Parts: sequence; structure tokens; C-alpha cells
Amino acid sequence: MGARRIDWLAAPAGEPLRGKLRAPGDKSISHRAVMLAALAEGTSEISGFLEGEDTRATAAIFQALGVAIESPGHDRRIVHGVGLRGLRASGSALDCGNSGTGMRLLAGLLAGQAFDSVLVGDASLSRRPMARVIEPLTAMGAQLSSEAGGLPPLRIRGGAMLRGMAHAPAVASAQVKSALLFAGLYAEGTTEVHEPHPTRDYTERMLSAFGWPVEFSPGRVRLSGGHRLQAMDVHVPVDFSSAAFFLVAACVIPGSVLTLESVGINRRRTGLLRVLEMMGARIRMEGVREHGGEPVADLVVQHAPLRGIEVPAALVADMIDEFPALFVAAACAQGRTIVSGAAELRVKESDRITTMATALQALGVRIEETPDGAIIEGGGMTGGVVDSHGDHRIAMSMAVATQLASGPVRIRDVANVATSFPGFDALAAQAGMQLRTATD
Ligand code: S3P
Repeated sequence: MGARRIDWLAAPAGEPLRGKLRAPGDKSISHRAVMLAALAEGTSEISGFLEGEDTRATAAIFQALGVAIESPGHDRRIVHGVGLRGLRASGSALDCGNSGTGMRLLAGLLAGQAFDSVLVGDASLSRRPMARVIEPLTAMGAQLSSEAGGLPPLRIRGGAMLRGMAHAPAVASAQVKSALLFAGLYAEGTTEVHEPHPTRDYTERMLSAFGWPVEFSPGRVRLSGGHRLQAMDVHVPVDFSSAAFFLVAACVIPGSVLTLESVGINRRRTGLLRVLEMMGARIRMEGVREHGGEPVADLVVQHAPLRGIEVPAALVADMIDEFPALFVAAACAQGRTIVSGAAELRVKESDRITTMATALQALGVRIEETPDGAIIEGGGMTGGVVDSHGDHRIAMSMAVATQLASGPVRIRDVANVATSFPGFDALAAQAGMQLRTATD
């Protein structure tokens, strides 16, 4: 994973984006579906599973922990659950690849097992902070250690007696919340999480659906140990974060009218929709319906001139993965866009404030970094060479940006797009964008 060096060569196609597209399954939900199905009693079928490197890494980890998982077809998995106490030690380190979600959720889940585990990741994941899960899990009685500075690999000692407790994490993080809830399944007593801002609630919703009693409301969740998970079928909706690149592309490319089919529109994920609307975007939701317990809709996007805004800090958690795409929308808008309250962007797959600022500056955009955001002046873009630093969302956002550049752009180091959106380039080409792969 991540060993190949692949670049994209992109040029503005000069064509509007038209037609209908279906982006792949939700990454967050796919991870959780495998985890809960593995711990459930009985056989669960997952459809719409994201065939990305991150979620495949999670499935492979559960296979290494003794769970039988079949792949009867593209984006389907049949998971033969082993029950809460049925996992067994793997003989080797468990490789989470590029996935912070995989590593942090597994830290909580494995802290409750009777056996030892080691979690490792790729170069990017090995630089990401784990103290945010190590500290509260340790307070629950877990025995975990990391490299200096709270960095992976994580070594987890089995056999710890976990105690439920109330947590109030300093950062709004669904990964931290979920790690604590997974440990809470194995803890004596009640585990509670009070968040500084509500984050995506998939773990809570899916635990409930698998039959575990959970009380939750935005920003609050509470559960007790000592119950069981019952197998069920999970239908994974399309990932809003993957659809977001095409949403922004159709907003900014003149003449575009694009329909994004069956996109998950959980409120905790769709802050970008509200921000784009404030900027003047024309996006319509059609056929709002439920799919596997999650709200989905077809999003019909039409080009419209955007204007810069001050992004409300209250929306940051609801669009945490969409800032690279928003930066591109801001660069194409008229006037100034100000982002603040988003320091978490600095500890994603790359430092997304610096990586995006450097990439947009290379195309002539005036953008100034601040400690927790950026100030972006809308205007034109030139051709040039930009580096995604192996960050999938930077690569895809810059691919959108190239469609409005005045010359060709080389986007370096895009192989990790396969972690969340395999086939992005083919879908982009189908919609009317021009992207070509080049290997050094
Ligand atoms: C995720 C939570 C978010 C998000 C990540 C997926 C999840 O991370 O950025 O892509 O599935 O719980 P944080 O919880 O660290 O903000």
C-alpha cells in the first residue's frame, strides 16, 4: 500500500459535467459494518461495501483475528460473526494501512480482548496522533503503549479489566468516540461520551441496529457492557465525502448539470451542502428516502457562480473531510473565503491546511494559512505541478481544480486515492473531466 508512485496529468477539458454518477460506498459505515458483523452472533451480509484499501485492510484484520469473511461479488461481504468473545490472537501485527479510523476504532475494540495485539500502519498513519485514544482507554483500565509522542505502532495487552466511565474529549472526533464505545462493550458499568461538537453517529446507530442498547442524542452517547450483538444485513449508502468532489466540480464548471445518485445525507456529514448553498450553489435533493436505516437522496447539481463566505465554525465537524474540496470551491468563487476552527485538518492523512495551501499557491491562488484554517481569495488558476503528499482527498480535490486551470497540471502521488475512491479517474472521465495516469 502506498509503495507505487502514480501521478495524474490533468487538463481542463472545457466541457461541462453532465449525466448521472454513483460514487462508491461509505467508508465510515463500511469499517463499522465489518467490525460489528464480526462481533455479532450469526451471519451478516454487507452490500454497498467500499472496495477501498482502507476498508479492505479492516476486513483482512478480522480475517487474521479468526473471522470467516466471504466476498461473493463486488461490494458484497458475508461475515460469519464469532460473538463478542470469539476473536482469537493473530500471529502477526495487524496492518491498518492508511486508515486512522481502522486503527483508532480497533484500539478500543482490541483493548477488551483476552489476547495481545499490535496495530501498525503506513508512513502517513505512523505520523498520526494516537494519544487521543490511548489516554481515555488507559483511564478505563486498558493497557496500551505507543512509540514516543503517542505515535503508532500501538501495542495492546489483552486481559485488562475495563471499567466504564464518562469522557469529555477535547476534540470533536467520531473516531475517539467510537474507540471508547467499542471498549465500553467490554467494560463493566456505563461508558459515556460528551462531545464538544456532535460528530457522525454511525457507531451509535449501528450498535442499536445490531441490538445493543444505546442512548444517544447529538453530542451525547451512553451504553453499558454485558449485552450481545445479533447479526443483521447492512446496506451501505454512497459516501457523501466521495460524492463531494463531483458536487464541487459541477458547481464550478460552467454549463454543468450532474446527478449524484443515492448519496448518504446524514446531517453529521453534509455541512458542505449548507456551506455551498451559502456560497450561492444550486443543489437540489430529489427522492429523499431511507437506505439501510440511513437517509439518502439523489443530489442534482447545476453550475452557479459562487461567492466567498466566512465558513461558520459550528459546521466544521459536519464537513471535516470536505475542506480540501471546499478550498477548491473557494478558489473558484468571487471574493474571500475564511475558514477557522479547523485545526484538526492538520492531523489528517496529511496536514490538509498546508498541503492545500501549497498546492493552490502552485496554481497561482492567493491563500494564506492560519493556525486553524485559511483565508482564500477567489480568482483564476494557472497550470503547474502540485503534490498531494499521498493524501487521497487532496489528490481528488486538485483534480477538480485542474478543470478550471488555464493550463495542464501534474498532480503528484495519487495512488492513495484507492484507499477511499477506487476508480475515481474513470468516473471523472465519464463525467467529462480530463485525467490521465502517469507513472515515473
Ligand atoms: C471518521 C471520522 C473523522 C473523519 C474520518 C472518518 C470515522 O475523523 O475525518 O475520515 O469514520 O469515524 P475524526 O473522528 O478524527 O475527526
